[in-house]
Amino acid sequence: MQIGRGRGTPIPSMPVMSAPARRGEYGVDAPYVPAYMALGALALLLTAALSAALEWSAWSFFLSGALYLVASIALYLYASRVGKFAIWSEILDQLRLRGDERVLDLGCGRGAVLLLAAQRVPRGGAVGIDLWKTADQSGNSEDATLRNAALEGVRDRIELRTADMRALPFADGEFDVVLSSLAIHNITDAAGRLTAIDEAVRVLGPDGRIAIADIAATDAYAERLRRAGCVDVSVRSLGWRAWYGGPWVAGRLVRAKKPAR
Ligand SMILES: C[S@@+](CC[C@H](N)C(=O)[O-])C[C@H]1O[C@@H](n2cnc3c(N)ncnc32)[C@H](O)[C@@H]1O
Repeated sequence: MQIGRGRGTPIPSMPVMSAPARRGEYGVDAPYVPAYMALGALALLLTAALSAALEWSAWSFFLSGALYLVASIALYLYASRVGKFAIWSEILDQLRLRGDERVLDLGCGRGAVLLLAAQRVPRGGAVGIDLWKTADQSGNSEDATLRNAALEGVRDRIELRTADMRALPFADGEFDVVLSSLAIHNITDAAGRLTAIDEAVRVLGPDGRIAIADIAATDAYAERLRRAGCVDVSVRSLGWRAWYGGPWVAGRLVRAKKPAR
């Protein structure tokens, strides 16, 4: 395990407050969102400048709107490029992995969470499945994830599959831990999202654990996990580091456990 290089191994019971050092390049989640916000900010700035030139009092209103959007973009990029890594380091530390688990990451993208998990299972392995959509993450591809795995020193510990999380190509009970970060909400219909939750439970073995971070539908995930027989189901806020533009698009964490047989 090689997390937080140069700063020693984090003590599991203490939260890691800063993001772990990363060598890979992980892109931006849903890159069209900050791009549209930047266009909006530019339009408002130009309108403010024009209003000021024409001596209209509304210039300050347009300028405030532009500054608001700039702050939202900064929060969004922080959450996507820094906050996610710090948060998932803490989540994974709290799972107190033994190091020999088989981990599955649903919608792994370029490997932000998959590779952090792989670094914590030196005697196990981590499998990532994805459809590699570039609208959901910039530069998303299997090759980009494999490159990142090599850069983070875990190429031999990971496996990637092209698959839809609603129909996982794995047998029942194959995994000890199932993770997912900001991916299940990308399934547009509620029934599809619940099918993904059912699949996560199916491939999890007895005593297996689930951790899902997402910006939408987290209460529905928790309810489905309870109905599927999971125990210790909880939902909590991930705080400002997971604000994708502001508190109205905030990440939450769902955790659950599959009972022992
Ligand atoms: C916002 S990205 C997050 C990627 C990664 N989990 C992370 O946190 O960096 C969402 C990912 O979900 C994937 N995805 C969307 N729908 C999917 C589906 N039905 N099955 C598998 N992956 C899916 C996308 O291709 C994308 O890689």
